Amino acid sequence: MRAVLVGPPGAGKGTQAQILASELSIPKVSTGDIFRANVSGGTELGNLAKSYMDRGDLVPDEVTNAMVRDRLAEPDAREGFLLDGFPRNVAQAEWLNKMLDDSGRALDVVLELKVDEEEVVKRLSGRRTCRGCGHVQHVAYDPPKREGVCDVCGGELFQRDDDREETIRHRLDVYREQTEPLVSFYANEGLLTAIEATGAVDEVTRRALEVLRARD
Ligand code: AP5
Ligand code: ZN
Repeated sequence: MRAVLVGPPGAGKGTQAQILASELSIPKVSTGDIFRANVSGGTELGNLAKSYMDRGDLVPDEVTNAMVRDRLAEPDAREGFLLDGFPRNVAQAEWLNKMLDDSGRALDVVLELKVDEEEVVKRLSGRRTCRGCGHVQHVAYDPPKREGVCDVCGGELFQRDDDREETIRHRLDVYREQTEPLVSFYANEGLLTAIEATGAVDEVTRRALEVLRARD
């Protein structure tokens, strides 16, 4: 199965991608996670991406596409993958179609997670991410058992730099202007299915699996 998750920042793409990838036994490929790993590792790619990410802007397509091309060429992604956070604009989507086509592959499904903006702001402003294992929690919706400590690995929970209110608003503008056009792009290709991404995490997972399994 080759699938893409689309949705505004805070829709729960990362949360769902983690669970869905393991349910479907395919690798999760999250461009945001790969960029953040590079930023913390102090790599050249990380240094380049950081200023864009801190502002809530998209990292340039050439850089992002090359990174995705390398990741999808790895053996574990040969038979399937779940993309989270990529593509992020129509140019990236067109590039992805061509890259897959050149290697005899194609997408099976694009799943849109729908959440209203007010909920997104609440989710992002309360999000906490683990420094140790990357696990994501929420101060109110999924409160850690011990304050500031990851439930999974006991690592330190921190707030992402781009989860400040002004940056959240800017990321939402970028989503509306650059990413939302993907919804009609993929609808035209007959690949898009949308689900409501409000409600409990396991309820959203159930809806998502129903769609993905039907397209597998
Ligand atoms: P990225 O990491 O992709 O950020 P994003 O799209 O803004 O998505 P988020 O990670 O903020 O949200 P999410 O939908 O994964 O939500 P989550 O599951 O964490 O990108 C970051 C930056 O990298 C970009 O701004 C850009 O600079 C760069 N970048 C990345 N990809 C790029 C690309 N393709 N091109 C160019 N640049 C790129 O959930 C949010 C919170 O809600 C959590 O606290 C969670 O616990 C909680 N939650 C989740 N589900 C529920 C639920 N059902 N009920 C209640 N709470 C919930
Ligand atoms: Zn952890």
